[in-house]
Amino acid sequence: MSAQKIIFLNQKGGVGKTTTCVNLGSSLCAMGYKVLLVDFDSQGNLTGAVSGDGRKATMYEVITGRVDAESAVQETPFQNLYLIPGSIDLAGLNVELAAEDDRNFFLKKTLSILDSQFDFIFVDCPPSLGVITMNALAWTDYIVIPMQCEYFSMEGLNLLMRTVSNVRKTLNPDIRILGIVFTMFSKRSRLNSDVIQDTSSFFPDLVFKTVIPRTVRLAEAPSYGLPINVYDVSNVGNKAYSALAKEVVKRVFEN
Ligand SMILES: Nc1ncnc2c1ncn2[C@@H]1O[C@H](COP(=O)(O)OP(=O)(O)OP(=O)(O)O)[C@@H](O)[C@H]1O
Ligand SMILES: [Mg+2]
Repeated sequence: MSAQKIIFLNQKGGVGKTTTCVNLGSSLCAMGYKVLLVDFDSQGNLTGAVSGDGRKATMYEVITGRVDAESAVQETPFQNLYLIPGSIDLAGLNVELAAEDDRNFFLKKTLSILDSQFDFIFVDCPPSLGVITMNALAWTDYIVIPMQCEYFSMEGLNLLMRTVSNVRKTLNPDIRILGIVFTMFSKRSRLNSDVIQDTSSFFPDLVFKTVIPRTVRLAEAPSYGLPINVYDVSNVGNKAYSALAKEVVKRVFEN
């Protein structure tokens, strides 16, 4: 069976894309799935959050055809979890690919050899809608949209929805939004709950039931290179990502 491809997308920065990519991925590994995390962001945050085995090749070499994707896959200290790291060179890709007619399909071409080797392949996107994100959109089966529970997030969501519907007409007719996941939720904030309620009534089938709470442990874990289910298994953030993993499995395999 072919890997389930999921990208973590929101053009707004700092909403929990990378945190969700790492911890959802690691929760799926704990359920027995083989997961590859691909860091497709020049910030390299995902690469820092799970330590790989130190191999040199990064997504930049893969996407530019210097190295094949298979040899760029790194093992991590965690069972079933693999990584292709990102690097700062990815920042130049917008310019490097500008003249190529098929510039949005480089990820699809270069990652296809990995399809049969994993249950899930996750791509962590940068906070923009540039050529990197377009490559991710052209390649993926599903989009997970991490969102903070704030009013500004809802404005961004409209742009994102428009982008996805354009992508469906052009780059990738089969693309689907798997769901919207609210992150950094604080139960003391009335606004946080209101935003979740409003968005859920607008997109009743899209919003995941699981809401990720704001917890300092989720922010600390990457500085140790650990996913939350290794760093602090009893933490509420781990419980939330485990619950989200179950919802994801249900949506992907049972729909
Ligand atoms: N549930 C949470 N509780 C507390 N802190 C969190 C939580 N989720 C994420 N953070 C912290 O918030 C910051 C932004 O999160 P993250 O890096 O996952 O967002 P991002 O959308 O990937 O950002 P960027 O757009 O820059 O790639 C990080 O410092 C992260 O550790
Ligand atoms: Mg990120």
